[in-house]
Amino acid sequence: MHLLAGAAIAAFTSTCLASPGYLKLDVERRAPLDRRLVRRQNSDGSFDAPVTQNTNKLEYLVNITVGTPAQRLAVTLDTGSSDLWVPAASAPLCRKGGCDAGTFDPSASSTYNVIDEGGFNITYAAPGDSDAGDWATDTITVGGSDPIRDQQIGVALSLFDSHGVMGVGFDTNEANNPSPDGVYPSVMDNLQSAGIINRKAYSLYLNDLQANKGSIIFGGIDTTKYTGDLVALPLQAGPEGYVSEFYVTLTSVSFTDHTGQTTQLSPEGYAQSVLLDSGTSQTLLTDDVFSALANGFGAVDIGQGSYVVPCKFAGINGTISYSFGGDGGVTIDVPVSQVVGNLEFPPENFADKSGGCDFGFGPPIGGFSILGDTFLRSAYVVYDISNGVAALAQAAENRTSTSSIAVIPTGTTIPGASVTATATGTQIPDAQATEEPAVPTASVQGTSLVLTGTPTFNLGAATTAAATGTAAATTTSSGRANAAAAPTAALLGLGLAAGVMVL
Ligand SMILES: *[C@@H]1O[C@H](CO)[C@@H](O)[C@H](O)[C@H]1NC(C)=O
Ligand SMILES: *[C@@H]1O[C@H](CO)[C@@H](O)[C@H](O)[C@H]1NC(C)=O
Ligand SMILES: *[C@@H]1O[C@H](CO)[C@@H](O)[C@H](O)[C@H]1NC(C)=O
Ligand SMILES: *[C@@H]1O[C@H](CO)[C@@H](O)[C@H](O)[C@H]1NC(C)=O
Repeated sequence: MHLLAGAAIAAFTSTCLASPGYLKLDVERRAPLDRRLVRRQNSDGSFDAPVTQNTNKLEYLVNITVGTPAQRLAVTLDTGSSDLWVPAASAPLCRKGGCDAGTFDPSASSTYNVIDEGGFNITYAAPGDSDAGDWATDTITVGGSDPIRDQQIGVALSLFDSHGVMGVGFDTNEANNPSPDGVYPSVMDNLQSAGIINRKAYSLYLNDLQANKGSIIFGGIDTTKYTGDLVALPLQAGPEGYVSEFYVTLTSVSFTDHTGQTTQLSPEGYAQSVLLDSGTSQTLLTDDVFSALANGFGAVDIGQGSYVVPCKFAGINGTISYSFGGDGGVTIDVPVSQVVGNLEFPPENFADKSGGCDFGFGPPIGGFSILGDTFLRSAYVVYDISNGVAALAQAAENRTSTSSIAVIPTGTTIPGASVTATATGTQIPDAQATEEPAVPTASVQGTSLVLTGTPTFNLGAATTAAATGTAAATTTSSGRANAAAAPTAALLGLGLAAGVMVL
């Protein structure tokens, strides 16, 4: 179904007061269902939903209002998609109380207009992850902004996700949209047209894994939230063949242990296009790099794209370093403590008494590599849609007391970024898209998940402590006997709910 052509020309309330030129709002961390929010469009215009995964991960929400009078709700902030949609109060899932971040009741809004009944359907990159309903327009506010009138939104009646999403990507990556060239004014477009920001750019600071909130500044950069200099990276073409997502060139990945010894994980000449995606909780690296990293930690495959390690690894002193852009580029150091943390298997069901935690990494899904929240917490990232650039610096965690905001002006300058690193990245070749990483599969003994891998990295005291239970009592070989994973979960009585999202 198509939207009516020419619908939704946004209009705005005028703002007579001088706008500061930026809009800052909190981004709240929550731990509901895992999310992997990347929309995947094929060259023929259809959408894929490649892989799913089932664990509890963190996600990041912002407050918005929709309608007149304003109805408040929280939605996932997603750099990997470009539509704003909200769950309808009448959706069956919401009527059952399953929409914990708020719902929208169109019948209670005097400014609501349906523009295509039944025409909204967004499909994210996990199987079954579709949210569908009506395309409409209504007045919205974002984090207390001035009202934006006639914003096009999806109002979902059929829900996979328990709350809505605000995609802040390129408008050229919108879902099944109505206009001939496939574009309607997105929230980012309208923030600019309304004069709230000077150009379509924002900075995102997810902050420390233990912190409750980070922040996003539309149109601005907080120079107290990073160390070193921002380095600008020209965005790389996506699978579509042109720039419409935040792909940057990753040129090196390495691990440094507590003695300072560094193990290179990526091959010589690595130049991989990777997606910066706040809507994906994990980091999905190419098979070669992922396998080296997973085996370094002795991670085991529990099926459906999930990997676990002992939770005590969250306490090790080790760093995963990512370099971008080639010569003159930037390196972001990610402490292991910012990655490992979500309990998946309680100690009584796991070979190690610290329990089994999500590893925070996985192999690519659908043939693309994603740097999600397990990377992004350690980076301060400026996303510049207008110029097709992302600028990165090392995040300064837990900086809440002061802020110093530089307004991002019109034009091309990114305040604080004087260097541009231009290495070209490539997408994963089709031939490699279906390869499986060489990581051992978990097995079960009694009621306990057995660790079949032995870490190859020096992980320090954490790993020399005697493991309890049945560790090392199995000889299950490597390879992806994924059929074993479902019985594993069933045997352990663990409710691994279906549905990870890559938004
Ligand atoms: C959203 O609003 C609720 C209710 O006022 C508040 O408790 C919460 O902290 C807000 N979250 C963000 C991210 O601003
Ligand atoms: C939305 O699109 C997906 C993928 O094409 C499809 O499986 C799903 O049934 C659609 N949902 C609705 C409610 O039409
Ligand atoms: C940030 O603060 C949290 C407590 O809120 C703490 O657990 C964490 O270690 C801090 N992170 C850094 C890098 O200091
Ligand atoms: C952590 O490891 C680094 C080497 O990578 C070392 O320089 C540092 O002293 C270690 N810190 C602690 C607290 O052991």
